[in-house]
Amino acid sequence: MLILGIETSCDETSAAVLEAKTDKIKVLSNVVLSQIKIHSPFGGVVPSLAAREHEKNLSPVFEKAMSEAKTEMAEIDLIAVTAGPGLEIALWKGVNFAKNLAGLWKKPLIGINHLEGHIYSNWLKPIAEIKNSNFKFSKKIFPALNLIVSGGHTQLVLMSAHGKFKIIGETVDDAAGEAFDKVARMMNLGYPGGPLISKLAEKGNPKKFSFPRPMLNQKNYNFSFSGLKTAVLYLLKEIDVITSDSILKRKLKIQQDMAASFQQAVIDVLVAKTIKAAKEFKAGSILLSGGVSANKLLRETLEKESKKLKLFYSQPDFQYTGDNAAMIALVGYYKVRNKKSELRIKNLKAEPNLRIKNW
Ligand code: KG4
Ligand code: ZN
Repeated sequence: MLILGIETSCDETSAAVLEAKTDKIKVLSNVVLSQIKIHSPFGGVVPSLAAREHEKNLSPVFEKAMSEAKTEMAEIDLIAVTAGPGLEIALWKGVNFAKNLAGLWKKPLIGINHLEGHIYSNWLKPIAEIKNSNFKFSKKIFPALNLIVSGGHTQLVLMSAHGKFKIIGETVDDAAGEAFDKVARMMNLGYPGGPLISKLAEKGNPKKFSFPRPMLNQKNYNFSFSGLKTAVLYLLKEIDVITSDSILKRKLKIQQDMAASFQQAVIDVLVAKTIKAAKEFKAGSILLSGGVSANKLLRETLEKESKKLKLFYSQPDFQYTGDNAAMIALVGYYKVRNKKSELRIKNLKAEPNLRIKNW
C-alpha cells in the first residue's frame, strides 16, 4: 500500500510517500521544507507568513516527494493529512491541498492528529535497527508511555494498544519547546531556541544557577514551564547589571552556564515525571517524541533512566524528531488498517485544537 502524507501544521511544509506491507514500513520519500529563515527575524512563527509559504511551497514539495519516491498519483492508495492541532490558517493550506488531490484522483483521504504523528515517529525506524534492538512491535511494549515534547505541546500519553490513547498529564502553560524558544529570545540567541540553547549548554555548568523545577513534587503528571522562564528573566536582569562592563569572554561563560542550568531544569522535570508515571502505570516502554526529542541530553537521560527500570526505550531518528509528513502517512496507514476510522473528503476540516482520541 502506498500512502501520501501531507503536513503543514506549523512552519514546515512536508510531503512524504510511505510504502507499507503489514509491519514492513519503508519511507520512499520525506521532503521537509523549513521556513525557519522567514520566521527567525520575528523570534517565532508568524501564522500569516507560514500560511503564505505553505501556499507557495506545497506544490513543489509534493512534486518532489512523488518524484523521489518514483511514483505517481494513480499508484497512491491513501492520502493522509494533518488536520490539527496547529495554526489554523497553516493547517487549512494542507487540508485543502489534500482535498483537491483526493477529489481530482478519487482517492481516500484521512485527517490525522499531528501529536499522534509524533508518537508514531517512533515506528519509522530502519527495519535493521528494529530487528537489532529490543524495541519490537510486540504487545510487550504496551502500555507504552509517550513523552511528547514539541514547540506547541508537552504531554504524557499512555497508549494501551495501537490507536488507544489516554492523556495522563500535560503542560498548564508553556510547552517545553516554547520555553526553550522564549528563553533563547530573552538571551538574544535567535529562533528556534532549542538547538541554540542546547549548543551553548554543551560548554556550560548545569549546576551554576539553581533554577526552579516547577511542579516536580506535585502528585500529578502536569508540567509548567512559564515560572522557569521568569526565573531566567530575573537572573538575566541581575547579571546585566553585574556584567555590563565585563569582558566578552566572561559574558559567553555566563550564557553557557545559564543555558546549561536552564536545560537541566527542564530535563529534570520531564524525566522525573515520565519515570514516575511509568512506574505508576506499569508501562512496558517509554517512547520520546516531538521537536524537543532532538535534545541530546534529554535523549541520553531518559534512555538511561528507562533502562534502570528495564523498560523498552525508543526515540525517533534525528530526521523524524521535527515535523514531517512521513509520520503523518504512517498514522494514516495504521488508522486505515484498524478499519474503524472513517474516510472523509468533503467534510474534512482543520481543527486547531484537536485532541488525541481513540481510533
Ligand atoms: O515538533 P516540532 O518540530 O514543532 C511543533 O510541533 O511544535 O517542535 C519544535 C520545537 C521548537 O520549540 C524547538 O526549539 C524545539 O522543538 N527543539 C529543541 C531542540 N531542537 C528543536 N528543543 C530543545 N533541544 C533541541 N535540540
Ligand atoms: Zn510537531
